[in-house]
Amino acid sequence: MHDERLKGTKKIGFVPTMGALHDGHISLIKASKKNNQITVCSIFVNPTQFNNLEDLEKYPRDLEKDIKFLVEHECDVLFLPEVNEIYQKDEIKEVIDYGNVTNDFEGKFRPGHFDGVVMIVKKFFQIIEPDNTYFGQKDYQQCLVIEHLIKRNQFPVNLIICPTLREHDGLAMSSRNARLTEEERKAAAIIPQTLNYIKQHIHQIPLNDIIYLAIEQFKKGSSLMNIEYLDIVDSKNIQHLSEINETTKAIVLIAVWCGKIRLIDNLILAD
Ligand code: PAJ
Repeated sequence: MHDERLKGTKKIGFVPTMGALHDGHISLIKASKKNNQITVCSIFVNPTQFNNLEDLEKYPRDLEKDIKFLVEHECDVLFLPEVNEIYQKDEIKEVIDYGNVTNDFEGKFRPGHFDGVVMIVKKFFQIIEPDNTYFGQKDYQQCLVIEHLIKRNQFPVNLIICPTLREHDGLAMSSRNARLTEEERKAAAIIPQTLNYIKQHIHQIPLNDIIYLAIEQFKKGSSLMNIEYLDIVDSKNIQHLSEINETTKAIVLIAVWCGKIRLIDNLILAD
């Protein structure tokens, strides 16, 4: 694989995942297949990025189904390492500080999460040496973290950010959706509704008021869920915005608890 790539004849596209694959993951595989001769998907439930043991233990795993799905979509290579092949026993997790990109929102509410993401993605880049790598906008902050990782380490890889795939009611596809009860799953439609409400009113109501109104509506709409954060930020650096202007591309970020399940989503507010 390496020889052919060195000769410049084959491009490698890489899609890192933690398995429990759904159409959102497959959309990344499809994007990679379009522009690369070899598509590598990794499935690795990365222990170092979980800040909650129960979340790690209960993370949905269905390898047989995942393999079928990958074969069906003609993914060329599945990289399926064991934890002890990737991590040494006493390996220390480096603390990553890319400013508010690693410290706010997910970084704040899931301490150490991005340290683990960076640790694993760095290893994967070094092992696989992809030309292109595909990440989902669904995990928007993760995309920014990977952008910084690539720049700071000068990895010769292009990051391609792919759109979020959604269920019929607008809920972003996520492996964690499988852990919701029927009732919670129905109620979770309030998440995309809240994002769309903000997008619809962005030019009519001051930003801080929209957030307040959106939270009020959310609370009325579902008693099963609690917002952990909801904010309108600059899409470049996820800094809080107090007003919209023409030069800034705004994005709304949300994290919600539904019982013991935590869901995140986002929506770009300017087209
Ligand atoms: P995982 O949650 O399995 O997601 C793998 C990739 O699929 C990520 O880039 C994620 O943003 C993308 N994805 C998830 N849901 C999506 C959707 N509804 N539409 C489009 N893309 C979607 O993110 C991780 O794993 C891990 O942190 C990882 C990068 C593999 C490192 O361990």
